[in-house]
Amino acid sequence: MEILTRLLLLLILFNVCLANDPFERAIKMPSERKGSKKHGMEKGTKWAVLVAGSNGYGNYRHQADVCHAYQLLKKGGLKDKNIVVFMYDDIAKDENNPRPGVIINHPQGQDVYAGVPKDYTGKHVTAKNFYAVLLGDKEGVQGGSGKVVDSKPDDRIFVYYTDHGGPGVLGMPNLPYIYAGEFIEVLKKKHASGSYKEMVIYVEACESGSIFEGLMPKDLNIYVTTASNAEENSWGTYCPGMDPPPPPEYETCLGDLYSVAWMEDSDTHNLKNETLKQQYETVKYRTSNFKTYNSGSHVMEYGNKSIKAELLHLYQGFNPATENLTQNNIPRYSHMEVVNQRDADLLFLWQRYVKSKNGTGNRTELLKEIKQTILHRTHLDNSIKLIGQVLFGPQIGSSILSAVRPSGLPLVDDWGCLKAMVRLFESECGSLTQYGMKHMRAFANICNNGVSENAMEAASKAICNIDNMELWSPTTRGYSA
Ligand SMILES: *[C@@H]1O[C@H](CO)[C@@H](O)[C@H](O)[C@H]1NC(C)=O
Ligand SMILES: *[C@@H]1O[C@H](CO)[C@@H](O)[C@H](O)[C@H]1NC(C)=O
Ligand SMILES: *[C@@H]1O[C@H](CO)[C@@H](O)[C@H](O)[C@H]1NC(C)=O
Ligand SMILES: *[C@@H]1O[C@H](CO)[C@@H](O)[C@H](O)[C@H]1NC(C)=O
Ligand SMILES: *[C@@H]1O[C@H](CO)[C@@H](O)[C@H](O)[C@H]1NC(C)=O
Repeated sequence: MEILTRLLLLLILFNVCLANDPFERAIKMPSERKGSKKHGMEKGTKWAVLVAGSNGYGNYRHQADVCHAYQLLKKGGLKDKNIVVFMYDDIAKDENNPRPGVIINHPQGQDVYAGVPKDYTGKHVTAKNFYAVLLGDKEGVQGGSGKVVDSKPDDRIFVYYTDHGGPGVLGMPNLPYIYAGEFIEVLKKKHASGSYKEMVIYVEACESGSIFEGLMPKDLNIYVTTASNAEENSWGTYCPGMDPPPPPEYETCLGDLYSVAWMEDSDTHNLKNETLKQQYETVKYRTSNFKTYNSGSHVMEYGNKSIKAELLHLYQGFNPATENLTQNNIPRYSHMEVVNQRDADLLFLWQRYVKSKNGTGNRTELLKEIKQTILHRTHLDNSIKLIGQVLFGPQIGSSILSAVRPSGLPLVDDWGCLKAMVRLFESECGSLTQYGMKHMRAFANICNNGVSENAMEAASKAICNIDNMELWSPTTRGYSA
């Protein structure tokens, strides 16, 4: 039972943080708005690309976020032919889903799954397809509906990504991950093609600021906000055992803090009367967990900030039913209990374990899975720490690996080196997995300190030396880079 005690401690100590701020009960809504602007005839088409970067029922919340975003844009008048959806599509039919065929993104929420276009699902949810879709490259996509962002110079594009991430990377259910260096190159290429007027990108992931920090040019006509800065977690919410909880039959979190903050804001406002800036301020406040930051994150912005003076409907459309809405009309919370993205899967296993007391599910199997997950995490953490000590010496190894560059500098100068180091590590020590993405900064710093590939390979071999990686072998799981 020791393992369970430790798991509980882990959850209590680090993740289940209660944020309450009695002095700031309600979300402050933008009360003073600029007089309504003249809209005139709107030229151009609105496009959207929505991406959930994971699979598995424990990651329910990310696909729920994306389905919700689709419904919002659809109600806003965007057409299916202009909305490209990436989702693994394994949640609605998962055996753990208490409402088969239904996905919700709020404790009292309606189904958000019905009608979602299945553009890129299952094995077609890849970084390569994501890039090709953004670039409007019909020949470049593999599988899926073949829908791409075939945009014209007057068009606006909204991109929303939600999932796990790490320094410099965003997850994908099929490896390899999205690397910031490549993603920014894709954005530059899109801009060079002259095929859009402006673009807005919202990103929810741990360390999502690191995707743009020191990398995002200001002259691409793109405005970006991220759930977190370059060095902190983002958070899952509406989680079992927390407040506000999902309906009791759910063992998994329903949403993510930044994601539900922007979507619940959009759902309840007239988007012809709210600017991107107002949404940014509202989302920043709510994602900070009402300025406590003890279990919330710093919403960041990048790119061309002039764009945020624009009205939201230019990107998210306008739902006539919101015409007269000025107040948030859904239940508001004075705080949100949240779980660190990286521990949400453990929380899911734990919930199933607790419920298994009543004879549902196999207790032995669940316990084995919890133990395996924790052991693998320990293996990754220890291996990387030891490799740092081998490369840089026992005194400074850890501090070199964890060093954060000053803001304005990218995570790493040579993205090819970062990917090479990740592959060398995985060959010797096994797959990094969703959890291991957190160690990307260590690999980046190995590159920033000029370590050669030979030295990295030797250090990994010396530390890991695993004959049988079983579940974690990169030859079966694929490489993250
Ligand atoms: C837009 O915002 C302004 C300022 O808050 C308000 O006076 C006006 O009624 C709003 N219009 C709509 C349609 O909500
Ligand atoms: C930022 O966007 C504004 C509005 O579209 C534009 O006028 C300005 O030139 C852009 N800035 C840069 C650096 O491209
Ligand atoms: C908004 O208010 C106007 C004026 O009262 C009314 O004519 C219109 O039907 C209302 N729209 C909605 C969607 O309720
Ligand atoms: C187990 O069943 C009992 C009786 O039906 C119920 O009161 C209890 O809440 C259940 N426990 C869990 C963890 O589901
Ligand atoms: C639970 O799983 C274990 C190991 O896979 C198996 O031996 C056992 O029979 C299973 N128990 C039940 C009740 O299904």
